[in-house]
Parts: sequence; structure tokens; C-alpha cells
Amino acid sequence: MTALDAPTPTELPPELSLAGPRPLRGRMRVPGDKSISHRALLFAALASGTSRLWWLADGDDVVRSRAAVEALGVKVRDGAGSPGEAADRRLTPPLSGGHPPSPGAGERVGPVVIVRGGGFDGLNEPDSVIDCGNSGTSIRLLTGILAGRPFHSVLTGDSSIARRPMGRVVDPLRLMGAQIDGRDGGRLAPLSIRGGDLRGMRHELPVASAQVKTALLLAGLQASGPTEVTEPALSRDHTERLLPAMGATLEAIPGGVRVGAIGALTPIELAVPGDPSAAAFFVVGACITPGSDLVVTDVCLNPTRIGFVDVLQRMGAAVEVVVTEERGGEPVGDIRAAYGPLRATTMAGDEIPRVIDEIPALAVAAAFAAGNTEVADAAELRVKESDRIGTVAQELSQLGIVVETRADGLVITGGAPRGALLKSHGDHRIAMAAAIAANACEGPSTVRGWRAVASSYPGFATDLASVTG
Ligand code: S3P
Repeated sequence: MTALDAPTPTELPPELSLAGPRPLRGRMRVPGDKSISHRALLFAALASGTSRLWWLADGDDVVRSRAAVEALGVKVRDGAGSPGEAADRRLTPPLSGGHPPSPGAGERVGPVVIVRGGGFDGLNEPDSVIDCGNSGTSIRLLTGILAGRPFHSVLTGDSSIARRPMGRVVDPLRLMGAQIDGRDGGRLAPLSIRGGDLRGMRHELPVASAQVKTALLLAGLQASGPTEVTEPALSRDHTERLLPAMGATLEAIPGGVRVGAIGALTPIELAVPGDPSAAAFFVVGACITPGSDLVVTDVCLNPTRIGFVDVLQRMGAAVEVVVTEERGGEPVGDIRAAYGPLRATTMAGDEIPRVIDEIPALAVAAAFAAGNTEVADAAELRVKESDRIGTVAQELSQLGIVVETRADGLVITGGAPRGALLKSHGDHRIAMAAAIAANACEGPSTVRGWRAVASSYPGFATDLASVTG
């Protein structure tokens, strides 16, 4: 199974039925990393020349970033890569970002997206409102880019985006000189942006956020004078790795990073490694389902993203990572996971940004572990695609697990989850967490609202079936 076969959102069934327990066995690859895919597309749009991007994430979120840069006048097209053209010449030369993955004979081909950027000045006022769908990364990163552009643009999204905090990007960008308005005084989307001359400045973020950090660095690339961003704990650092590979000068400062202005980035050729956040569902699935032994290949192993491996190892799980190469400034390799007994653990403090997207999957591991697992300092979960403290607790309770919710976390008492009727709450990660839990449980389960997986992983059910079949 490759991303080439992934169903479109409208082809997805409204609910997924599972009959567990079914072990996860064999080798698999997950779609390209979503965070890197957004950055690769958006940064390529700001480059002067042609970038080629292989294995971009195939979910709707990244499609929104692509549509946004197209709406801003950047030419983006799909390459001719198809299974019938496995010898496509473009896949063979060594690429500046590394080389395309070759997950197996006959699969040495990937959808290649070709972006023809014209630098920051190549962006034009869009004809219409830009709809970011469910994608927080799209709306926040685009706000940073458009804050420096001398035209008017409006960014909006779905009902989940309409609830998510935007003041965290709007307020610092206003301080740099951008005119941004929105609902509730600019705290909520839709956002109306009239960009212009920006002044570089120092931002000390109160909350670790890679989206906010990236938005401010993208504004900083267009500002007069240096821009500094510090954060209380390190959030994912893909921007800091990719921007220098595209010609920007970034300098590490205590607790953060400094950037200076640049007129255009340098194009890149990049094969996006697999998404560790997608891999985490299968890794947890293997840890909790008797008889499992699974290898996920070609995964991004950036330390800011694989905190879930540390957590699972603390829980006693048989999980190992092996770095096999470096691509686009990112370590890449395999994760192996096998079934075994788990014990409870605590996640808190600086570890939280390193596991934030994996907490729904780790909460499922905790449901199968002996003892009370505690998640603290994670109030950010409340402002993700759903309120994940509430939605995780609700779905684990359906499985018969006792969960206590707190303002900034959860306490999960491990037990013997049993099949149930589950819901996605419109949140792709809740849908996938529910599916891997259900796959490990005795008795039938159904996950309602399954189409939510389209945001990041439309082919999830097909890939799960391929390793449990
Ligand atoms: C992301 C950053 C994270 C994460 C989100 C993707 C990114 O959010 O939860 O899914 O690509 O920058 P924060 O901005 O809160 O770090």
C-alpha cells in the first residue's frame, strides 16, 4: 500500500467496523510527514525557481496548503510519477534533500509535486477567501507569510478551526507591524490580513508552539532587522532544519532561534520521510495487540517527534528505533514494535511538546497498561482539532476504562478494554486512536465519524488491514 492508493475523503465510509483482536505483523510505510509536507510546500512557494517534493502527505490538510499557494498565484503541478513509470528519471538523480525512499522493489516511485515559486514577491493578492479546512498548520503558517505581503487576504477554515486560538499568531504579528483583524478582535478565524512592512523583533512565546514559532520566523524572513523567537520548551524544529537547507540564515540563541530577512528561498528537492505521528498509531497498536511484531520503515526520527517511543519504552514496551539515513536535515529510519505487557507512566513538563500529537495513541496504550498513567502540563490538548482531554476520556470510557480529566491532563486507570461504539468527534487522531484500541479489544467495535481521518491519513484503514490481514 502506498499513498498513491489512498481513498479520497468522499470515498471513505462514514464509519469503520473492527473485530479484534488482530495482531499487526510485517513491514509498512506510512504517508509523508504532515508537518514537513506543509513546510516543504509553503517554503517552496517562497523559493525562486522549481522545487520537487516527493511523498508529500496525502491528507486534506496538506492539500489545503497546496491550494492556498496556488490561490496566491504559485504554479504547482503533479509530476508524471505513477506505478507504470517506476523508472521516472527525476527519481534517480541524488537530491539535495537526500533521495527518494525505496521502500521495496517496484515501489521506487512516488507522487512528485513540482512547485514553481517566484520568491516572496511572486505571491499575488488572492481572488477569494482561502479556506484552510481543518488545518491549523496551514492557517497559522500562512498568516505569518501573508503578514509581510503588501495585499489583502482572508484565511478561514472549518468549524474546528473557527474555535482554535489565533491570537497567539495575530498578536505578535501585529507588534511587527501587520494589520490583522478577525472575529473576537482577531482572536478567532476568519482572519483578514493586510500585510506590509514588518519590523523584526524578539518574541518570547508563553506556550511552546511550532506553528507560532514558524509563523513568526516566516514573517521575520520579510522584516527589517532580525527576528528572535524563544519558547519555554522545544517544539518540533522542522522549520529550523528546512529553512537553512533553502538558503535562510538561522542562528541558535538561548531557548530559541534568530532569523534575518531574505528576498527568496532557494528551491529544494526533497523526499518527505514517513510521519512519526501516523506511525505512532501502528506502533501502539502492535504494543497492545497479542502476537504483533511490526516494522514501520522510512519514518522521520526527529527527536522532537519521537517522544512517544521514550514513553512506550518507559512503559516496558518492546519498541526500538534505528536511524538509517539523514534527509532534508532530518534523521530517518525504522521503528520496530512488538506486543508485551505494559506498565503505567507519567508524561509532563518539557516532554509534552514532544508527544503532544501522540497523546491520543499513548492514552490507548495506558488503557491497556497496569496502573494509573498521568498526563499533566498538557492544557494545549484542549485547543487541538477537538478538546482531546475531553474526547480521549469519553472514548476510553466507552471501552470500559476509568479516566479522570483535569484542566491540563488526564489520569487513565489501565484495565481490560472491550469493544464498543466509538466516535471521532471530527478529529482524525481520535478516529485513529479509537481504531487501534478497537483492533486490540475482544468483541466488535464501530468508529463513527470515520471520514475525519481524511485530514491526515485517508488510507489508514487500508494500511491497518494490510498489516492485520
Ligand atoms: C504542528 C505543530 C504542533 C502540532 C500540530 C502540527 C506543526 O502544534 O500539534 O499537529 O506542523 O507545526 P503547535 O503549534 O501547538 O506546536
